[in-house]
Amino acid sequence: MSHTKYFTIVTYGCQMNQHDSERLAGQLKSIGYEYTEALSEANFVLVNTCCVRESAEKKIYGKIGELKTLKASNPNLIIGITGCMAQKDREKLFEKAPHIDLVLGTHNVHQLVDLVKEFEQTKDRVLSVWDEAERLAPDVPTIRKGNISAWVPIMYGCNNFCTYCIVPYVRGRERSRPVADIVKEVHQLGLEGFKEIILLGQNVNSYGKDTDEFGDFADLLAAVDKVETIERIRYMTSHPRDMNDKVITVIKNSKKICEYFHLPVQSGSNTILKLMNRGYTTEYYRELVAKIRTAMPHASLTTDIIVGFPGEDDKHFEEAYDFIKEINFAGLHVFPYSKREGTKAATMPNQVDESTKKKRVHKLMSLSQELELDYMNKFVNKDLDFIAETYENGYLVGHSSNYLKIKAKGKEEYIGKMLNITIKNIEYPYCISKINL
Ligand code: 5AD
Ligand code: SF4
Repeated sequence: MSHTKYFTIVTYGCQMNQHDSERLAGQLKSIGYEYTEALSEANFVLVNTCCVRESAEKKIYGKIGELKTLKASNPNLIIGITGCMAQKDREKLFEKAPHIDLVLGTHNVHQLVDLVKEFEQTKDRVLSVWDEAERLAPDVPTIRKGNISAWVPIMYGCNNFCTYCIVPYVRGRERSRPVADIVKEVHQLGLEGFKEIILLGQNVNSYGKDTDEFGDFADLLAAVDKVETIERIRYMTSHPRDMNDKVITVIKNSKKICEYFHLPVQSGSNTILKLMNRGYTTEYYRELVAKIRTAMPHASLTTDIIVGFPGEDDKHFEEAYDFIKEINFAGLHVFPYSKREGTKAATMPNQVDESTKKKRVHKLMSLSQELELDYMNKFVNKDLDFIAETYENGYLVGHSSNYLKIKAKGKEEYIGKMLNITIKNIEYPYCISKINL
């Protein structure tokens, strides 16, 4: 009989959560657990949760329900819940799902080893959820998914309190990591063979504002740009209010930082933007986009939009629709507003009914596809840089530097290499391309 203990992690939500899972996996491996894809094989299942929208929560509670059946057939199975829902719901999770053994908050990721050991010894349920984070989370072993692109957190938390958003409540106040630590990690990842770095933060443009030790986001980008072991740099997510000329200039002057701007506008109506507490107007946003396009005419610009925010009537929605068309984004992420208990917007009057939200989502999704295709078509017969990430049926698949999805015939050994390509035609969602050798 094998004595190997297996773990699996089911992850929901944003890139920060995905990266937390890599830090959780690293810790479990350090105490002898091996990773398995198969839930049925696992001795330990960790669910890393998200609560940004109710739909995510429902899905996760469904998954937790499924685990109850699994535990019935394997009573020694350890079940842990971590991430944003663990931070928010805490003891309530034990009440709702008595088969849970471990609850770990977002500020407690680094404690996993101690808590698992504690549980293994006592077999008593363990809960560790701090209200506030330490200034700097201690380093833990990390096992990264993939070997081409690596996430590197640069800051944790958010201070913005957009009125719809639960994130500031479950991820705490902004804490920036020291520049030196980030640069060292990026350099090391390059040595390990990673080609691309994605700098992560809830609002990367706020980097360094919580201290006067590290400079600002533009300074950080410039520092990471100098790391020779890395070929490509991306970052997410930006707040339009805090995006500035200095950042635009650093990106324009860099060969490695992608000309890819994901700038969540959230609404195209000034009335709604104000209710959302976004801190900018459509006029400001328009000007920001003009600056970016003047500096980098081919830059890709994408956005997030929430529809059905409380008070959004047909006129506000039409304004938003027209604004999105005018800006001519390369793509949109559209979300129906989801009421989050404890946020300001949850108690605002004029909540919008679900069927209206659905219609609006639908309208914007078809607009998004049109815009995406327009943007892709602009690059037919143009040359771009491309890093292949996977190999599928004779095709290399990955992203261009402006984040188009690329498919190109080529050899498997080109995976991870920076290649020059010419886009030949579009087969949505891919740009079919030819490699220029
Ligand atoms: N309802 C719908 N969408 C939301 N987002 C954040 N909070 C909510 C909410 N309560 C969206 C925003 C954000 C993206 C990550 O999720 O558009 O940019
Ligand atoms: Fe939420 Fe706004 Fe912070 Fe983004 S910037 S995480 S939307 S509060």
